[in-house]
Amino acid sequence: MPSIVSFMHFYQPADPQSCYYCVKISEIEAEEYPIREGIFTVEHVVFRCSWHSQFECSKCGKFHHFSWLFWCPTEERLICGSCRKPSMKPIKFWDKTYAYEFFCEKCNEVHYDLFYSEFRGTHPWQSEHYKLNSIVTIPENWMPLWKPYNPRMGENIAIEDALSLSNNVEEIRRRLGDLEFHSSLTPQNEVDHQDIQKKWEEDSVNWIENYEKSGELDEGDISRQLIIDPAFWKILDNVQGLKVLDAGCGNGYFARKLAKKGAKVYGVDFSDNFIEYCKVREAKEQLGAKFLQTSLTDLSFFENEFFDLIISNVVLVDVQDYQKAFFELNRILKQDGRFIWSNLHPAFGRLGSYLLRLPLDTSRNEERRYNLVDRYFDSGGTLVSWENFQPLWQFHRTFSEYSHALKEAGFTIREIIEPKPDLGLIKENPRALAFNADRFPYFIIFDCIKID
Ligand SMILES: C[S@@+](CC[C@H](N)C(=O)[O-])C[C@H]1O[C@@H](n2cnc3c(N)ncnc32)[C@H](O)[C@@H]1O
Ligand SMILES: [Zn+2]
Ligand SMILES: [Zn+2]
Ligand SMILES: [Zn+2]
Repeated sequence: MPSIVSFMHFYQPADPQSCYYCVKISEIEAEEYPIREGIFTVEHVVFRCSWHSQFECSKCGKFHHFSWLFWCPTEERLICGSCRKPSMKPIKFWDKTYAYEFFCEKCNEVHYDLFYSEFRGTHPWQSEHYKLNSIVTIPENWMPLWKPYNPRMGENIAIEDALSLSNNVEEIRRRLGDLEFHSSLTPQNEVDHQDIQKKWEEDSVNWIENYEKSGELDEGDISRQLIIDPAFWKILDNVQGLKVLDAGCGNGYFARKLAKKGAKVYGVDFSDNFIEYCKVREAKEQLGAKFLQTSLTDLSFFENEFFDLIISNVVLVDVQDYQKAFFELNRILKQDGRFIWSNLHPAFGRLGSYLLRLPLDTSRNEERRYNLVDRYFDSGGTLVSWENFQPLWQFHRTFSEYSHALKEAGFTIREIIEPKPDLGLIKENPRALAFNADRFPYFIIFDCIKID
């Protein structure tokens, strides 16, 4: 019978060390837990045995960290959490604080991830059945098997406790020694504006094509749906009848939402292609929104004090001359009008910090994901690649630089919001949120007002 479980054979270290997971588990298990040899590693720091490695999902064919997979005994196959959406069950076991629960339609019950299954003694490899049927081709160091003497369950805990982890920085220092990384940013005025615009123009085509299916053209991407936009809507009062500018509107999804709430919306963006797309949508949907191709640094189309409200969703990080953009936005806003804009967080957003988790392939919260910040004071532009897009110019600026430029342009900051998803959302979207969005803010919202 052919093996139906495949291992990820990543880099095999010349000099294997004990399995990282076996060591951690054996520190906790009173019964003797076997420390197996760590024959695989993705990151050259953490060595894993063949139990604590990656396995192939029988649905998508991709390899995943063992805690992101469940075993269906009816179908006798492994399925990953991307193919079958899990929920997060706060449960204390070993040094973990939650398990993934997968509802199985075939069995009409929940299955647990392989990590928690092993703790309970229900891991498929712990069963004689699978050994006898040799469903798994057992690698040399597969043994010894381990099983708790009695079947058991972890301790239920509140989700708040499951997410309140200690600060892990000390341990990473110990493991890796001192880490150093430096950014090399190009000063803002040395970046070619034409090049910035050209790259956006090219990427806008991909953006629209890629996201047509996933709903992002109506709802924004996952970060907008789950983190930024809920915070935005919380502070946006009634927009009915207000003249609102969506500055850097992109595909226009936010502008269309504002228009549906009764605002008189204008969307501007410097990409012709985005504006064209917005106009086509508007012609179809007739929401009364208007779209205009122009740079935020030149809004001369609009007279002074034209708008009641200006919003801008993750745009200023892309705008080269943000000081000039703030001046223009201030000019076209009424007295006492609000300018509410989100951006990548200056300290923890992708430009300012370096993400590290160990092991690198894990999706678990406990497993050492750090956001390291260095060279915070260096501001400027750099080319950043997102998913399958061409690299785009993005600009890092410090809090003080943004705050100073807002003051110079005539804005007062009313409030700064660092959006954090609520627990309900985290539970429903554990993969997208639980392992970092609850630990540091990637985004920030400045709620500003124009007052003398
Ligand atoms: C990250 S996208 C965000 C789009 C939209 N607000 C959203 O949330 O989906 C940034 C947008 O800013 C636009 N942009 C960048 N620099 C600009 C500038 N100087 N003037 C006008 N638009 C600009 C880009 O074309 C792009 O559509
Ligand atoms: Zn192990
Ligand atoms: Zn899968
Ligand atoms: Zn099942």
